Amino acid sequence: MRKPIIAGNWKMHKTIDEVISFVNHIKEEEIPSNIESAICAPSVYLSLLKEKLQETPIRVGAQNVHWEKAGAFTGEVGVPMLASLGVDYVIIGHSERRAYFGETDETVNKKVKAVLESTLLPIVCVGETMDEREQDKTAQIAGKQVRKAFEGVQAEEMRRVVIAYEPVWAIGTGRSATEKDAQEVTEYIRGVLAHLYNSEVANHVRIQYGGSVTPENIALYLEQPDIDGALVGGASLHPDSFLQMVRAIEMG
Ligand code: PGA
Repeated sequence: MRKPIIAGNWKMHKTIDEVISFVNHIKEEEIPSNIESAICAPSVYLSLLKEKLQETPIRVGAQNVHWEKAGAFTGEVGVPMLASLGVDYVIIGHSERRAYFGETDETVNKKVKAVLESTLLPIVCVGETMDEREQDKTAQIAGKQVRKAFEGVQAEEMRRVVIAYEPVWAIGTGRSATEKDAQEVTEYIRGVLAHLYNSEVANHVRIQYGGSVTPENIALYLEQPDIDGALVGGASLHPDSFLQMVRAIEMG
């Protein structure tokens, strides 16, 4: 059985006061442990979040990382830095990084390999643009991004990976994929993993859906046989909304 993982992606949001108020709110609440939950925050808050959330089951993730361990890379953060803070996850290849910061399948692959050398778990994002969907290239794009992201990754390491299927057109638009479409693509991705590795690995890897997930629609995705959680942007910013989503399985 794959343990679902609900991860909030705060993107470039919140001041320190807002982070503290979110954490204080959430610490008063019962957090279910039948799922994994995580907050992926701007790197300046990771240390604080690790400290404040240590008595809760909520894990902490970064939103990006460099593939080199250290060096003359002004403005970048390396895997050993995140590991030394006890950070649990790191998002790699988010479509905003691919679109605005020159992230490519090659850099995604380097980052995935660097992260898998550490104790951190990568959340690797793949997904098609609206143009690509309209040209019926959804499966082709997801397949290509998956193959390139995990080039050279061994089966044993692959078991630790989380994949987030995030159609670009659904991110931050309020226009989520239907649960049927999301299931179809996640099932396809699992098939690609079975082909690249074997069915045991394919059945072990967790695949999230992301793109305009809310407390209102999350249960629909979680009910799908190949969807193992969600990567949530906007709806993860408010503590009540985040809590409703991490409790969605309990309620369902
Ligand atoms: P959204 O973002 O939930 O605001 O659509 C999802 C994401 O970018 O991971």
